[in-house]
Amino acid sequence: MKIRSKTKDYSLEFVNGALKRKKELFSNIEYSRVFYFIDKNVYKLYQKELKKLIRSEEAVVIPATEGNKSYLKIADYYKKLIELGFTRKDMLVTFGGGTLQDLSGFVASTLYRGIKWVFFPTTLLAQADSCIGSKTSINFGKSKNLIGTFYPPDYIFVDTSFCGTLTWRYFNSGLGEIIKFHLMSNEKGYSLLKKYLGSEDVTHSRYFEQIVRSTLKIKYSYFKGDEYDSGRRNLLNYGHCFGHALESASNFAVCHGEAVTVGMGFANLLSLRRGIMKKDKYDEFEEIFKEYYPRFALSRIKVDDIIHHLKRDKKRVGKGLTMILSQDIGKQFKFDDIKEREIRKTYDDFVATYP
Ligand SMILES: NC(=O)c1ccc[n+]([C@@H]2O[C@H](COP(=O)([O-])OP(=O)(O)OC[C@H]3O[C@@H](n4cnc5c(N)ncnc54)[C@H](O)[C@@H]3O)[C@@H](O)[C@H]2O)c1
Repeated sequence: MKIRSKTKDYSLEFVNGALKRKKELFSNIEYSRVFYFIDKNVYKLYQKELKKLIRSEEAVVIPATEGNKSYLKIADYYKKLIELGFTRKDMLVTFGGGTLQDLSGFVASTLYRGIKWVFFPTTLLAQADSCIGSKTSINFGKSKNLIGTFYPPDYIFVDTSFCGTLTWRYFNSGLGEIIKFHLMSNEKGYSLLKKYLGSEDVTHSRYFEQIVRSTLKIKYSYFKGDEYDSGRRNLLNYGHCFGHALESASNFAVCHGEAVTVGMGFANLLSLRRGIMKKDKYDEFEEIFKEYYPRFALSRIKVDDIIHHLKRDKKRVGKGLTMILSQDIGKQFKFDDIKEREIRKTYDDFVATYP
């Protein structure tokens, strides 16, 4: 896949055995030395292969926590690279999910005003979604992704076998985004989604690579022409307005893609109440979400906390709250006039039926 970007065009390649093919994969890239940012769990799980590939003094191992995506931590990452003697001719290579991507991307875009960066996404969410689209994000306190830049990696290598070691929670998180993108596509995409989710085992489905590729294509169709998120790309926040608020209000006990699934369920209920979505559609989509909602006591989260975080949503423009509502497959619309009382009433009903 070749992706056009205002910063620099870049490419994404599906590869097998990524950890054994460093020389070959990097053969077309010009660089002097290479330094690595590696997710701590990935390092533990793949250390035998990684140790053959990387000298320990070239690697910074970072736990994938929202706290490590904080603006207060970024100085540590600059410091590490500068102390290791990183120059503009060198290259940063990241192994990890969306968390390592967000923090590495921010560092890559700002250190020396932009360095060469290669990304090996290792979670389903990062492979199917976050690896393309150029966003880098840093948290401010408990509020997610308030600081960031647009800076894509130069090369992305997707090896889907990394997903084989994910816990169900994080596999399910990737599924949340996969579901969202296919509900935002068309009947063909929706039918592939149903075939995929209908597989006996979604983690080993024969449609797995196809659904990852399809998700990336749908995402590209939304941000092509709106990389800086001022128009159509905004719609990709379907499920995210409530989702981000839930992630923050739960102190990140609910992970990103799972929160998006809950967020889509909430947005659909609001759409139903506003007469935008018909009841039969609502029921049809709710059937899908119910399978993948996280097992989490939603009733523990106070609606006031949700509203507090919705008010800090960076997409908010007017007095009202912002949310993407949905009518049907591929028919999502942005609303900036959502009232607090609508959120309160919908939340009560939503919590009452949450599995
Ligand atoms: N930049 C973007 O466009 C964008 C888009 C969506 C989400 N995000 C951000 O991405 C983050 C979430 O990323 P994520 O869902 O990829 O999770 P993550 O990067 O936080 O990783 C989830 C967990 O899986 C572990 N892990 C990673 N790869 C593994 C593997 N192959 N096997 C076993 N364990 C593995 C990690 O150590 C971590 O414990 C959030 O901070 C979210 O805001 C960014």
